[in-house]
Amino acid sequence: MQQANFQVDSRLATLLSQDYSTTEKALKELVDNAWDADAEEVVIELPEPLTDGPIVVRDDGNGMTRQELESHYLKIASDRRMRTDGRTSKKRRPIKGKKGIGKFAGLMSASVMCLTTMARGQKISFTLGIQDLESASDIENLTLPLDVSECGSEDHGTCVTLTHLRQGLRYPSADRLRQELIMEYGRQKDFKIIINGKPLGIDDLEGEFTEVQGTFPDAGDATLRFAISKKKSGLRRPGITLMVEGKAVGKPSYFGLENSDEIPARLLRKLYGEVEADGLMDYVTAGWDSVIENSEAYLQIVTFVQANLVEAFRSTHGMEMRMAHARLLRIPRHPATQPTNIRPPIPRSSGRAVGAQRRRFALLV
Ligand SMILES: Nc1ncnc2c1ncn2[C@@H]1O[C@H](COP(=O)(O)OP(=O)(O)OP(=O)(O)O)[C@@H](O)[C@H]1O
Ligand SMILES: [Mg+2]
Repeated sequence: MQQANFQVDSRLATLLSQDYSTTEKALKELVDNAWDADAEEVVIELPEPLTDGPIVVRDDGNGMTRQELESHYLKIASDRRMRTDGRTSKKRRPIKGKKGIGKFAGLMSASVMCLTTMARGQKISFTLGIQDLESASDIENLTLPLDVSECGSEDHGTCVTLTHLRQGLRYPSADRLRQELIMEYGRQKDFKIIINGKPLGIDDLEGEFTEVQGTFPDAGDATLRFAISKKKSGLRRPGITLMVEGKAVGKPSYFGLENSDEIPARLLRKLYGEVEADGLMDYVTAGWDSVIENSEAYLQIVTFVQANLVEAFRSTHGMEMRMAHARLLRIPRHPATQPTNIRPPIPRSSGRAVGAQRRRFALLV
């Protein structure tokens, strides 16, 4: 029987790189790859407008050995999640990569990409240019000269340098890149992104950014930082994250404001921020997923957060809040469903506090 084979034109790589609508969206692919490589820090340098400087994305992740480079990186369209349990090996992060094509994203905005990766004492570099891709007829026949040298046995990480930025595209902007990354990576404590020397942080969110501090009898010092997005639609992951000693406790929430009629749900979805309250350490549950919610200390923080958010929403969206409230009052209701004032969230957890446990132990000793 006669046989036939598919062939893959090298243009495939260029076509795949054109899947992104902006350079900033394309650069996020490289950040996703750093996340998947269990990096703790990604440093991104963007060129000054109207210069011919490179775009550099450098991570301190696992890096790749030659074998990994060949079997993972150079394999197009392989599903990384098929070769893992869906989580990264060291940090158990949910893996972002799924299509096996994100590596070409950089070529959307640059004609030449240089990759250097270090793992287990070996440093490997290669350069891939759009021109090489265009002149080779079949991507499998394209030979990539590898520059292999030794590096320190502890060195690890990957650096992608993009040069010969394409003419006719808007220069990549640090601000737009921050906006692209903030929702997904703004809250990650073990994954720092530094763009042109400045770490990505909560103040990168578009909208009014407010910081309030307070001191409480049981909870001690607390700092609330938040922004109310000016976008028409709600945010993808809205809410206030409780941070205790630099670590997020559970998921972002509205601190009971969702149970009040004060702020319409539509407005709450524009809220993004965090409250730092290290004094709650004693009340954090062992799984670090909630706090003992009926503790005095936590109730003080809830009141602090609610009061400041209501005040902020009143000043930015007062009219909308009054109208929503008036509409509610007009609807006759069964007494049990009458609108109530803000009440603290119903305690969900009966988990034992790590700190409280520690304290009891200390008393026994
Ligand atoms: N910065 C990096 N550090 C270590 N390994 C990397 C890095 N970038 C890519 N890789 C390896 O190369 C593979 C291919 O990357 P690529 O971005 O093309 O696909 P993916 O991340 O698996 O899927 P997606 O197309 O959805 O991004 C990755 O799965 C990973 O094994
Ligand atoms: Mg990827």
